[in-house]
Amino acid sequence: MTKLAVIVIISIFLCVDCLKLEEKFSWVNVEFNWPSEKDHQSALANKQYIPENNVIVGLEKWKNKLFVTIPRWRAGVISGLNYIDLAQSEMSENKMSPKLNPYPSWEANLLSNKLSKSSIISPFRMQVDECDRLWVLDTGFDDFLGAFKQVTPNAIVVFDLKTDKLIARYEIPKSQLKEDSFMPNLIVDTSKKSCNKAFAYVADSIGFAIIVFSLHEKKSWRVKHNFFHIDPMMGTFSVADVMFSWRDGIFGMALGHVNPDSSRNMYFHSMISNEEFVVSNKVLQNETYCNDPSSYDEYKLIGNRGLDSHSTSEVFDEATSVLFYTLISHNGIGCWNTMKPLNYDNAILMDADDVAMVFPNDIKIDADRNLWVLTDRLPQYIYGKLNAKDVNYRILVGRIDDLIKDTPCDKNFM
Ligand SMILES: *[C@@H]1O[C@H](CO)[C@@H](O)[C@H](O)[C@H]1NC(C)=O
Repeated sequence: MTKLAVIVIISIFLCVDCLKLEEKFSWVNVEFNWPSEKDHQSALANKQYIPENNVIVGLEKWKNKLFVTIPRWRAGVISGLNYIDLAQSEMSENKMSPKLNPYPSWEANLLSNKLSKSSIISPFRMQVDECDRLWVLDTGFDDFLGAFKQVTPNAIVVFDLKTDKLIARYEIPKSQLKEDSFMPNLIVDTSKKSCNKAFAYVADSIGFAIIVFSLHEKKSWRVKHNFFHIDPMMGTFSVADVMFSWRDGIFGMALGHVNPDSSRNMYFHSMISNEEFVVSNKVLQNETYCNDPSSYDEYKLIGNRGLDSHSTSEVFDEATSVLFYTLISHNGIGCWNTMKPLNYDNAILMDADDVAMVFPNDIKIDADRNLWVLTDRLPQYIYGKLNAKDVNYRILVGRIDDLIKDTPCDKNFM
């Protein structure tokens, strides 16, 4: 029996009575709350807006706002950074497919000549921090798969969620990028006690590096390590009958508990790898030490998540010490309780669905410890096979304690 078969059998065995992620929202094409129907119609007519080219890739939640990002893979993306008003969507006619609202405004999101410091062009992942700020990673390009154009430099853009005002815009210096740098993910390292001393860690998945940004110092540095690279034997994928090969290294990152000395472990993995690694945030934050050969062994292998466990984002739940991660080759979500060794028995396929969970792209935990998962059909979209009549985007949600109950991720599991 192959290891894959073992994983599948375990998960089915375990999850007969388990609660699954519930489908909260789904769309064939996303729609927007336009300033007016006239604006909508003219954007359609002049191809400023091509609905099927607007693919959601990132999600995050703050209070009643569920943020979603739509990078400009192709022409016709109307607004990159958007939110669903959760209170309003409950009352609207089309509860399951609410309309998106550009954030912080339409002006900040429109591709126009009037760029401002709040401009958002092509955001991927975001994170809300303990200080009520939204950190957005903007790759700044338009029509990535077509007539590629770098509209604005790669930037970290931070908004105050209480006022919807810009707090900071930091453009990553060209000297810290490589020709083929591609930055799809960021996580934020901060605490309520020291909002100004925040750091962000940005994954350069094709440049195989992490860019560390210090908000306090308004500067960044590039960190390299062999563990940010790929397993070259794992670059081919088969997702919902689409075969493709990618080359993304470092991608998923998540911070663990705060240790007594105030350090935290950062878990991380490459998309094209089964391995999970860890490094202390103190190493990343030390600009001289993080790239010094003497720090090489501070980066440690934890273990292997299982066969074909290609993964984009991951998140850590402090209450249970469980790490949750997308499993794009299994149309599902995996979990591992970090108090246990990382091996095939403890890292499980927690939930999977060959329709609703094709390409789980982003995963987040909200303040009430719900797990949110975004699935899209990105491979189908990129390789030209998106079905215009199919449901292409879904957002699923579940309570963490329910989702891991009676699985090896539950600490009481025998
Ligand atoms: C950076 O790391 C080096 C080597 O461990 C250490 O000597 C130095 O004090 C650290 N710097 C900071 C600012 O922590």
